[in-house]
Amino acid sequence: MNWIRRTRFRCDILSQMSEAKEKSNSHRVVTSDDVEVSTYLEIAKEIQGEQTAPKPGELPHGTKEAIAIIDFGSQYSHLIARRVRECNVYCELFHWETPLSKIMAIHPRCFILSGGPASVYEKGAPLAPVGIYESHLPVLGICYGMQAISHQLGGVVAPGARREYGQAVLHVSEENSPLFYGLEDSLTVWMSHGDNVLDMPPGFRSSAYTENSPNAVITDGAKIFGLQFHPEVVHTPQGMSIIKNFLHRVCGCHGTWTPGNVIHESIEAIKKQVGDGRVICALSGGVDSAVAAKLVHAAIGDQLTCIFVNNGLLRREEPERALSTFRKNLKMNVVYVDATDLFLDQLKGVIDPEKKRKSIGQEFIKVFESEATKLGKVDFLAQGTLYPDVIESATPESKAANKIKTHHNVGGLPSKMALHLIEPLRYLFKDEVREVGLQLGLPEDMVWRQPFPGPGLAIRIIGEVTREKLEILRGADWIVMNEIKKAKLYRQMWQTFAILTDVHSVGVMGDFRTYGYLVAFRAVTSQDAMTADWARLPYNLLATISNRIVNEVPGVNRVVYDITSKPPSTIEWE
Ligand code: XMP
Repeated sequence: MNWIRRTRFRCDILSQMSEAKEKSNSHRVVTSDDVEVSTYLEIAKEIQGEQTAPKPGELPHGTKEAIAIIDFGSQYSHLIARRVRECNVYCELFHWETPLSKIMAIHPRCFILSGGPASVYEKGAPLAPVGIYESHLPVLGICYGMQAISHQLGGVVAPGARREYGQAVLHVSEENSPLFYGLEDSLTVWMSHGDNVLDMPPGFRSSAYTENSPNAVITDGAKIFGLQFHPEVVHTPQGMSIIKNFLHRVCGCHGTWTPGNVIHESIEAIKKQVGDGRVICALSGGVDSAVAAKLVHAAIGDQLTCIFVNNGLLRREEPERALSTFRKNLKMNVVYVDATDLFLDQLKGVIDPEKKRKSIGQEFIKVFESEATKLGKVDFLAQGTLYPDVIESATPESKAANKIKTHHNVGGLPSKMALHLIEPLRYLFKDEVREVGLQLGLPEDMVWRQPFPGPGLAIRIIGEVTREKLEILRGADWIVMNEIKKAKLYRQMWQTFAILTDVHSVGVMGDFRTYGYLVAFRAVTSQDAMTADWARLPYNLLATISNRIVNEVPGVNRVVYDITSKPPSTIEWE
């Protein structure tokens, strides 16, 4: 999501990716996952200019313990937030220029200063709001964050003789440091810096060193700590313990941010917000909209009506399964609209992926609005907006990102509908949403569903979308999914799917020559869709998938496996 951020020492692949994106001026947006329905609707929020963020001093779901992370622009800032949440402590990311009053409004127990691409001694380099040090609350600076502490409190930071990048061995020299409680004296840590703390601020001492950094960990001996390495990345195997030690031993957090509490408190909040009003929610079959709807349903029951638009571009059995889950298992009020004809009519003759997206987005809004109007007076619209989207739209870089998003999720509810928003997931990361979903009793299949793009199979058919092609693609896609699940690889893959190309090639079946479609299939691993690698699937599995597709799907006589990473490719073909 942070396409535009520049990180000085990020690995080559990230900068290539960013450059490729800028050069290509691609129409696509990086999506965390399952954004289909909510992003079609998200413009409703923009139209109304409505904010559902807490008012100053009011934490989501009555959270008692909060941590403020000051974001200096590191590619790992989100990761710090996720690690803190994994310790069951609520946290929020704040851009470094955020006014202190806004940060203090969450009543933080401590501050974590993130890494960043700048050098603290450069003119205009990002620095922490000074009041943070004057607050006498604990501060943990990570990489650039530690350099900011040093610079701001009177130390000297300068370029190192050598840049330190990659794993290093950290030797803990201070006995009884709360950060290293329960850990060995020597730890493997991940470094990524060019600047060093040459002189520590007055009153500070070094608690640990590496071969290249005598001041790899610094402290004032009370509440301020600096780490030259990144505890939040997996390459620092004990990193979570260090973060946990800081939160529990230095800041006295108890870890009350649990899915159970989130559910309980968010149900209470929804009840309070909605009163006896009526709520609508668009379902997609994906996890975000499902969890959002389930939470709202748990709070207000039949005051919620869900609308499930079948755009005719879903995978085999998908609408039926989703519908049965919501209606039969979860006993929710669902209006089901089979709008296949409308969507396919609009897509006739459309080849350009951009136009496909536009047409699908516009049609969705039309259908949704017409169904919602039939329900009479409705007061609220529930959406599955996640925290990463909230962070993204709060950063200065977000303007460009929003433009791209708006571009591909064209539409937005007409302002005359004047709906207030309910966003019960706006403080949650994806993994937290999944946990909440499981606790709420959503089926595992739904909770662990791989991301599926809003325009659905339309952008996996190269060229014009027709019913015949959709059937072919559904057949091939079904086999890919089936075999990946049988091989127990489904959850390890970010996405696995088939693509119907517009290439025909000659084949031979029995005594006949054929001239059939070329199907491609793609399996990628990824953390967040920003980068992805093609999965090294076992040859036998590739063979089975290929055999089954050519034998079972009429019209296909050749299968290829996509072995390109992102960048330079993208995950989807269109
Ligand atoms: P790309 O192909 O850009 O995809 O590498 C990154 C992630 O975004 C999904 N994707 C979309 N999702 N509407 C969506 O809701 C779209 O138009 C769209 N295009 C791509 C893609 O499936 C992957 O997860």
